[in-house]
Amino acid sequence: MKLLFSLFLLLLFLSHPTATQSQSPAQAPAPPGPPDLIKILQKASQFTVFIKLLTTTQVGSQIKGQLNNSNDGMTVFAPPDNAFSSLPAGTLNSLTDEQKVELVQFHVIPSFFSISQFQTVSNPVRTQAGDTRNGKFPLNVTTSGNQVNVSTGIVNTTVDNTIYSDSQLAVYQVDKVLLPLSIFGSPSPATAPAPATEKKKKATAADGGGTSSDGGDASGGVCLSSYSVHAMVVLCSVIGGFVLL
Ligand SMILES: *[C@@H]1O[C@H](CO)[C@@H](O)[C@H](O)[C@H]1NC(C)=O
Ligand SMILES: *[C@@H]1O[C@H](CO)[C@@H](O)[C@H](O)[C@H]1NC(C)=O
Ligand SMILES: *[C@@H]1O[C@H](CO)[C@@H](O)[C@H](O)[C@H]1NC(C)=O
Ligand SMILES: *[C@@H]1O[C@H](CO)[C@@H](O)[C@H](O)[C@H]1NC(C)=O
Repeated sequence: MKLLFSLFLLLLFLSHPTATQSQSPAQAPAPPGPPDLIKILQKASQFTVFIKLLTTTQVGSQIKGQLNNSNDGMTVFAPPDNAFSSLPAGTLNSLTDEQKVELVQFHVIPSFFSISQFQTVSNPVRTQAGDTRNGKFPLNVTTSGNQVNVSTGIVNTTVDNTIYSDSQLAVYQVDKVLLPLSIFGSPSPATAPAPATEKKKKATAADGGGTSSDGGDASGGVCLSSYSVHAMVVLCSVIGGFVLL
């Protein structure tokens, strides 16, 4: 059944001659070693904020190492500067260092996907952020024809453009920052005001001329456990008076 579906998609894909044109071939002669994400983004321009995040969080060098040491390749969703500037003011600054790392890792899938391969991806897709916090970083990729939509549960966005694609690394421009559910999803529930502690008014009221209501309150609880209300009032008055001395 799944195979049949895949074959169907393949046929669909082959019957669309435009589908293959969306992947721009790598133009520069391939340098030795893995492709350099930072250089690719610098060349594309408009990605200064994302580059800065990749650098400060060290995720950039993490990707470099993984590309060199694994055959799975990588897929990166790169939001341009205007995607970052359309976030509410202070969004990035409100994140801890760990959350910044997670945010950047959430934009990275530790395997290579061409646009056409997204058609058969199973959701949710595991990102680099998911390596450390299993299941808390859902990312769904859906396609129709050549359009690729990405959804995090917080934002829905679309792949605008293929910045780079070879057999190892794919870099796609997305028009929004992918905000992960686990960081931006559940605003911390407002802590309910603690129920007012029941005051033992009876004991203090019966304390008569006693000025220290604290003494009456404190001993009231003890009294309650072993004496009738009447005996308690008497005893508490005695204790209250004693405490005052
Ligand atoms: C790639 O990995 C090899 C060992 O697996 C290492 O010798 C080489 O320095 C690495 N290159 C880069 C660019 O990280
Ligand atoms: C992708 O998102 C657009 C709106 O941004 C929507 O019209 C379209 O149906 C979505 N396609 C898929 C396959 O989810
Ligand atoms: C992602 O896809 C899974 C499986 O189809 C679905 O259960 C989940 O609700 C989707 N989440 C989002 C954020 O779209
Ligand atoms: C994202 O799209 C889903 C349906 O595909 C919709 O239910 C949800 O409200 C959208 N979320 C946002 C933030 O637009």
